[in-house]
Amino acid sequence: MAGAGALIATSQLPALAEDNPAVFPNRGGFERLSLSYATVEIGLEKPFSVLHISDTHLTAAYDHENEKKQKLHSNRTTTFGGRQEEALRDTLAWAKQHVDYVVHTGDLIDWQSEANFDLVKKYFGEGIIGSMGNHEFSTDMWLSEPKEEKSEAYKDNTRDILQDVYPFNISLSSQVVRGVNFVTLDDVYGYVTEAQVERFHKEVAKGLPIVLCMHVPFFTDNIWRATVRFWTDKGQLTYRELPKPSGDYKRQREDPVTRDFIKYLHGEPLLRCILAGHEHITVEDQFSPTCREYIVAGNFLFHGREVLFI
Ligand SMILES: [Fe+2]
Repeated sequence: MAGAGALIATSQLPALAEDNPAVFPNRGGFERLSLSYATVEIGLEKPFSVLHISDTHLTAAYDHENEKKQKLHSNRTTTFGGRQEEALRDTLAWAKQHVDYVVHTGDLIDWQSEANFDLVKKYFGEGIIGSMGNHEFSTDMWLSEPKEEKSEAYKDNTRDILQDVYPFNISLSSQVVRGVNFVTLDDVYGYVTEAQVERFHKEVAKGLPIVLCMHVPFFTDNIWRATVRFWTDKGQLTYRELPKPSGDYKRQREDPVTRDFIKYLHGEPLLRCILAGHEHITVEDQFSPTCREYIVAGNFLFHGREVLFI
């Protein structure tokens, strides 16, 4: 596919302003969006702005697709509220009017289907959308055969199909925007590979400030705490004691390649910002002396964050 980059210029987006009066009919055009804002100070001559969205979780299936896809369509559309495409359209229409670029950090689709892939192409075409999510690699969720597992071998089953649909290098891609290097990375199961680390060092060698865009956050203790507080019912207990690292955070502390990469990033002055998703909550924390990490909540609930680079 064409173009190895990280962002889609909003000028390339199709005209999407299509008001749907079904949601909050008496509000203004974009008031149903739940936007947050951040400013990243780099010292640029020409500031620019990016809409960061993540976790749209599209759940479309054509009638001719198999029984599993129909079952997932019905089940998961209920899970995500059924307004995911509308939310995506709204946020992209807003972006076209208000910012310069859009980055999507994964789980644009909930599982693989012809209909979902067609939506990806419809909304992004040859444009660039950022990074994979764990759901991009899911063939049929809990109905998947072979069974889903968090490994490179599992990803290999459908890597080529995804690479054909998504118009950027799905492992790692880079695009320089006004002197800032946007690097997107597949870290969908929490870890990175040696090949990705090697590729990242080539990006660092360009000597430009870097914005790292990926699906799963590189956890700080505070981001981990917020994640656990949202996803499990620990009440006030987690105020006092940091929840024990598990899942992706545990993997990031224990997998040697990932652990060393994160340690290296803590001391890399060119790293200025991390954009991630996956957790469906809006939370941010200082990642390193030069870099703040921003996690954006689910686009399926009309969330997005404008990040202004100045
Ligand atoms: Fe995810």
